[in-house]
Amino acid sequence: MPPRLTGRRLRAAAMALTAASAVIVGVLTGSGTAQAATSQPCDIYAAGGTPCVAAHSTTRALYATYNGALYQVRRASDNTTRDIGLLSAGGYVNAATQDSFCAGTSCVITIIYDQTGRNNRLTQAPPGGFNGPAAGGYDNLADATAAPITVAGHKAYGVFVAPGTGYRNNSTNGIATGDQPEGMYAIFDGTHYNAGCCFDYGNAETNSRDNGNGTMEAIYFGNIKAWGYGTGNGPWVMADLENGLFSGANAGYNANDPTLTHRFLTAIVKGEPNHWSIRAGNAQTGSLSTYYNGARPNVAGYNPMKKEGAIILGIGGDNSNSSAGTFYEGVMTSGYPSEATENSVQANIVAAGYAPGSSGNNLLTPGSSISLRATTACCTTRYINHSGAGVNTAVVDSASSATAKANASWIVRAGLANSSCVSFESKNTAGSYLRHQNYQLYVHANDGSALFASDATFCPQAGKNGQGNSFASSNYSTRYIRHYNNLVYIASNGGSNTFDATGLWADDVSWVVTGSWA
Ligand code: AHR
Repeated sequence: MPPRLTGRRLRAAAMALTAASAVIVGVLTGSGTAQAATSQPCDIYAAGGTPCVAAHSTTRALYATYNGALYQVRRASDNTTRDIGLLSAGGYVNAATQDSFCAGTSCVITIIYDQTGRNNRLTQAPPGGFNGPAAGGYDNLADATAAPITVAGHKAYGVFVAPGTGYRNNSTNGIATGDQPEGMYAIFDGTHYNAGCCFDYGNAETNSRDNGNGTMEAIYFGNIKAWGYGTGNGPWVMADLENGLFSGANAGYNANDPTLTHRFLTAIVKGEPNHWSIRAGNAQTGSLSTYYNGARPNVAGYNPMKKEGAIILGIGGDNSNSSAGTFYEGVMTSGYPSEATENSVQANIVAAGYAPGSSGNNLLTPGSSISLRATTACCTTRYINHSGAGVNTAVVDSASSATAKANASWIVRAGLANSSCVSFESKNTAGSYLRHQNYQLYVHANDGSALFASDATFCPQAGKNGQGNSFASSNYSTRYIRHYNNLVYIASNGGSNTFDATGLWADDVSWVVTGSWA
């Protein structure tokens, strides 16, 4: 069904255009930063007659006047929490607060606040149809430092969802229920995804269970093909409507839904009675494209919809939690937003200036040959080394044999599971990579599986003890490459394994990246 420009929609489109002009004028006149302009995404949705009823971001304010906390972190060293706020009203996150609070330890994101004033915050998802891996069947919380980026040059962190991670609110205020109209957008890392069910942001069941077709309406991003899919190998933006990810009207393939891998991806799903749409674009440049705009799926149970109004992030409606992805910001609206309103929001997003973070180390670029030196006082002459499949730390110096030097040398590759991160291919065993298995590191041949890719992908960040870099596991993002008794693990800061010991954790997970010995 094509969108009709009713009087209400014409008025909304005109208001949204006015709001967009305000942003553009702000940018063109150089009146402060782009973000100092009057309208942020939720101001634009309000001007379009479809106000935000949930607004989540770890990177910036989504209203020009918002000046509260964006999210809360908890650190492992003493289990205390800290709210992370803004540099200025309507502006960017003050990530330095997190950096100083989390220095020398690890932090997880405990709350993503709702900027609308409706208290639709996201917290650790409870068990539902499926249990999560944390205590009591809850899902894991995201490592607060695993997705570093910049926005307009300001440091920020996204919500890195490794499998098992999930956020939810089952008791919301103002979110669409039944067949009520709603819209939503989210900004994701288009290079971080998997084929697990289901990396979603949006409307879901209030009891965390599969309550049947039409009881959800959320944005999905990933390359699972169990339900719908589009062209290419994925990932695709689809709508999770429960018991089905829809790429268009058909239950399976829809030719108009393309594979999208923008590093920063704007993804949109919206729905109203017997009408819904998928839109997406590059969050760093350009405009949105419409990949579906029509009637509800030609499958029973989705018209009328039976939305329940919970909010999920990183999981499926029934707490399926094997998915992966990264979230930076997103909103849900009351009412079906016009394309003009969404186009203005996209202009605002592009002007915001999302950019990849840097590991701060030029050696960590794909193709570099490197060695990884321990920084703990005991061990500063030791490097990560392999002998066949076994991995340990070994002393290497200029007098070491050529074999010993080659065993401690690695070629940096784009992360096999996430090209924003890295993998380490053995310099002397081509096609074999450092990977973890049962939390210990080995060098194994790449078998091409999704599991291997995840096990062999590590996300660099500043060293936890202030030296070099630390490397978070891509699929266990609160675990970092650590040496312990000269063996090498992925370790959390405290936990049930001996190698998770808190003593010397920050030193043991910090590595100086040097040019390779071989
Ligand atoms: O619709 C796809 C998934 O199916 C939902 O997210 C989940 O609740 C169910 O398993």
